[in-house]
Amino acid sequence: MANKFTSYNKEVMKRFLHPKNSGEIKNPDAVGKIRNDYCGDLMEIYLKIDDKDKKNPRIKDVKFQTMGCAAAIASSDVLCELARGKTLEQAKKIDNKLIIKRLKGLPSIKLHCSVLGERTLRDAIEKYEKKNSEG
Ligand code: FES
Repeated sequence: MANKFTSYNKEVMKRFLHPKNSGEIKNPDAVGKIRNDYCGDLMEIYLKIDDKDKKNPRIKDVKFQTMGCAAAIASSDVLCELARGKTLEQAKKIDNKLIIKRLKGLPSIKLHCSVLGERTLRDAIEKYEKKNSEG
């Protein structure tokens, strides 16, 4: 019977063991850094931005690095997939409900781990926007 300690499903394990979007981007346009208030784990998200359309810059590439757990790694891997190619406005709307849906579920005790990537992506976007609004 499922309970809050239910183990990770196959999709989460696949992404945890073989994440496609982990790593660093050289000369990123922005880096988000957030510590998870719940567990203290740290996440970084690197962005490369295509700003040919000045009004609607797009995420050309996105990668993550984390000291977080399996759920944080799997969630961030999905997050990067969802964010790549999106405008910054679209990317800000990605939330952990969508991430969890793509992961086909997470144990409830691990839901906070999926919020970490979402917050870190927003931090990176805000830093990019701030840098680019200061003439
Ligand atoms: S326990 Fe810290 S991110 Fe999952």
